[in-house]
Amino acid sequence: MATTSKTAARAVAKSSSVNVGNKPTGKTGKMENSEFHEFFVDELKDIYWAEKHLVKALPKMKKAATSTELASAFEKHTEETNTHVETLEQVFALLEEKPQAKKCDAMEGLLKEADSIIEDTDAGTMVRDAGLILAAQKVEHYEIATYGTLIVFAQNMGHTQVSELLQATLDNEKATDLALTEVAESFINEQAAAE
Ligand SMILES: [Fe+2]
Ligand SMILES: [Fe+2]
Repeated sequence: MATTSKTAARAVAKSSSVNVGNKPTGKTGKMENSEFHEFFVDELKDIYWAEKHLVKALPKMKKAATSTELASAFEKHTEETNTHVETLEQVFALLEEKPQAKKCDAMEGLLKEADSIIEDTDAGTMVRDAGLILAAQKVEHYEIATYGTLIVFAQNMGHTQVSELLQATLDNEKATDLALTEVAESFINEQAAAE
């Protein structure tokens, strides 16, 4: 998230005037040279970095988990996150942009937090699992917020196919968040409280 909110606000403000009539100017449907388009691509690079780092972080979280239920939830989402990376590569291709990762400070922070939770809790405890779920849900909510906004941007620019691809990822992030809540509420929180 290197772009400042001021720049973002400017890009969004500018887009509303650029986008009157909702007509993309390029043959690929992208508004070439538009500041909003550049901002959109920049944010795609940011979430691309985030997804690629999650692919590496989730197996560590799986290894740290106490319960097999949580471990398998992390394993499932590792595979799904690989699909999110591939989906973003398809999005870059559709936009005729290079798939480039740009460091996402927010995701770096969230993953550092997951590391400290692992350090601060004992292996083999349900408190560890409760903490891992907290960390993972923060990540999912970050992804949900990001994809939700990127879908609106894509629709606004007339990138229908791109918005559909991103919607599939968003649906999966929401399902993952719900699945984590179910694991937490089924037994982890209760057992963590009893430890
Ligand atoms: Fe993801
Ligand atoms: Fe996710």
